[in-house]
Amino acid sequence: MSLGFEEKLDNLTIRINAHIKYSNFSLESWLEDVLPIKEGDQILDIGCGSGNFFSIYHKMSGGRGIIVGIDQSEELLFKATKQPIPKILVKWNMDYFFPFIDCTFDFIISTYAIYYATNIKVILEEINRLLKQSCMFYLLGPSINNAKELYVFNEMVFSFPIYNEAIIRTSRLENDFFHESNLIFKNVNLERVQRKLVFPDKYEFIKYYKATPLYEESVAKAGYVPSDEILFSIKQIPLEISKEMILLKGEKK
Ligand SMILES: C[S@@+](CC[C@H](N)C(=O)[O-])C[C@H]1O[C@@H](n2cnc3c(N)ncnc32)[C@H](O)[C@@H]1O
Repeated sequence: MSLGFEEKLDNLTIRINAHIKYSNFSLESWLEDVLPIKEGDQILDIGCGSGNFFSIYHKMSGGRGIIVGIDQSEELLFKATKQPIPKILVKWNMDYFFPFIDCTFDFIISTYAIYYATNIKVILEEINRLLKQSCMFYLLGPSINNAKELYVFNEMVFSFPIYNEAIIRTSRLENDFFHESNLIFKNVNLERVQRKLVFPDKYEFIKYYKATPLYEESVAKAGYVPSDEILFSIKQIPLEISKEMILLKGEKK
């Protein structure tokens, strides 16, 4: 079973904007509080997408760090080139060994991307190889409780329950990644961060829902695109969805 997914720029932009507008929690401010980035750090962002957090890394590294973003999507990397700060972007599939020498980075981060990796042990060993001594990685992503309401709605639309790939992805950080990290790194820690999205109306909810991998993969699985009439006719449109997040972090031994 492949856990990979080709993210589209338009969809990612819709979701990022909804998170900014309708979340009870600012991911950006929280990152500024918790990231252990120091002046001059060399930072690797795995699955950086459009470089949503580059400006935070830039600010925290005092404008003297080196920011390297890797992603498999040319479309998203192109958008990342527009971020007005110095950075190095590499089109790369994280399932392959990374094109960097050992002990290059002071900090490695991946936000909502690492759970697409095929082999957990291989990618964690790569992170270990690339980190300098005693430096840290932060992996952020959904928890098992993430967006439960969306899955219930999706089942009402398509008449099939949440599929295996989605279950595996949302449970990977707190299960397999956590377990494997403990074997490789020291001071491994898993934190659960409560967030939620509250949409102002059903139109904004449907716009968000149609921009999710869940919807796209369900369309592919069902073999048809449900009309807006069908989507809006569903009585229980959830205006509030949980975005519980996992932060898994650890330090090179
Ligand atoms: C949900 S987006 C998150 C993007 C960004 N980290 C953020 O938080 O805005 C997931 C990203 O993972 C990337 N991705 C998925 N599978 C990948 C793979 N095998 N190798 C590299 N990038 C991958 C996608 O192209 C996409 O940019």
